[in-house]
Amino acid sequence: MPQIFKPATNYLARASLIGGLLAPLVLGYAIAALSRSPANTKVQVPLNQPIPFSHQHHAWELGIDCRYCHTTVEKSPYAGLPPTETCMSCHSQIWTNSPLLEPIRQSYETGTPIKWNLVNKTPEFVYFNHSIHISRGINCNTCHGPVQNMHITFKGNSFQMAWCLQCHRAPERYLYQDEAHPEVTGRSQVFNLYWKYQAGEELSPRERQILEGEDQGTDNAEMKEKGRALLDKYGVKVQQLADCAVCHH
Ligand code: HEC
Ligand code: HEC
Ligand code: HEC
Ligand code: HEC
Ligand code: HEC
Repeated sequence: MPQIFKPATNYLARASLIGGLLAPLVLGYAIAALSRSPANTKVQVPLNQPIPFSHQHHAWELGIDCRYCHTTVEKSPYAGLPPTETCMSCHSQIWTNSPLLEPIRQSYETGTPIKWNLVNKTPEFVYFNHSIHISRGINCNTCHGPVQNMHITFKGNSFQMAWCLQCHRAPERYLYQDEAHPEVTGRSQVFNLYWKYQAGEELSPRERQILEGEDQGTDNAEMKEKGRALLDKYGVKVQQLADCAVCHH
């Protein structure tokens, strides 16, 4: 009789011994992996919205400027979301029967704002400011991914601390000037990139990377040198950019 049970109990005993030793490691690894998985950071997962608003339709196919809807993005810390009136400037006249637009019509009639679900949110204890990044010529897509291709908006990057620091520790890898238009300010360059793309103008490999939301900074010595010159020009205090107090105060 004992022989019948022996292999099984043996196996169980060994399994629980191995399990006992490995469990903390496995658990630790699982937590680390989980905290980086799309389920937690929601990177590249389209978020359900009360209305299936498409950036691809509006920003790319119709060519509406980001600032038409995100009116404060270059002037303030916040980009802002458009009020119903902005949508109705067109949709009181076009596609007036679309059932998908019913919530907009209702919102307009009742004066109740549409409750968009926020895709990007940093915790309360983190300070972020759009205008300063835009004025340095950093494109929306570097942070938000390929917005002009999105049907339903998703998060392009994790916005974890390490991600922010990757640029704050070496901003010369990211700053660039459109060489075909050296006269353009950083601020205008951000929005010009979408127009150049739209007009079929020739784009540099880097500009194409930015549009695709795949800008990882450059390792090219010459380009980093140009990045450093821009940091000088803008008077960026690079040594202090990774100080805790920049983002936590
Ligand atoms: C400048 C004009 C304009 C503005 C502003 C505008 N839209 Fe549109 N929208 C259009 C046009 C044109 C279409 C049709 C696009 C197509 O299918 O080619 C459309 C299509 C849509 C559709 C798809 C309708 C369907 O039945 O397929 C939705 C949903 C929509 N818009 C939502 C919005 C929301 C929400 C806003 C405000 C945040 C907005 N739009 C602002 C012009 C506009
Ligand atoms: C016609 C209006 C309109 C235009 C033009 C537009 N957006 Fe939006 N945008 C919206 C609306 C409405 C939302 C909220 C719904 C959603 O997340 O899709 C939004 C959401 C976003 C978000 C996510 C915000 C969050 O919840 O965290 C980003 C990022 C964004 N837009 C970037 C851009 C960029 C970049 C451009 C220009 C290339 C642009 N938008 C052009 C209307 C617009
Ligand atoms: C350096 C990175 C970075 C750049 C560049 C950037 N954003 Fe953002 N964006 C963020 C972060 C981080 C948040 C979340 C902010 C928060 O939680 O307060 C955000 C939030 C948003 C939101 C949600 C509403 C709000 O105001 O918080 C919109 C809309 C948006 N961005 C649009 C844009 C547009 C349009 C551009 C380009 C003109 C742009 N962003 C450029 C990092 C960036
Ligand atoms: C692609 C590069 C890049 C990324 C990514 C980036 N930043 Fe920055 N950030 C900069 C640069 C460059 C400056 C300095 C601008 C200056 O001083 O002229 C800056 C400045 C700031 C400032 C100072 C604003 C002020 O008012 O002085 C804050 C706060 C900040 N960033 C927060 C963040 C946070 C939070 C994230 C991540 C969610 C982030 N940044 C991601 C490049 C970046
Ligand atoms: C460029 C901006 C930036 C700088 C500089 C920065 N942080 Fe953060 N920090 C963030 C962001 C963004 C988060 C939120 C991360 C998230 O939501 O996962 C964060 C989160 C944290 C957290 C919460 C735990 C965590 O990792 O999410 C702590 C603690 C923290 N930071 C401490 C520091 C300290 C200490 C320094 C200086 C050595 C520092 N931070 C510098 C942007 C920054």
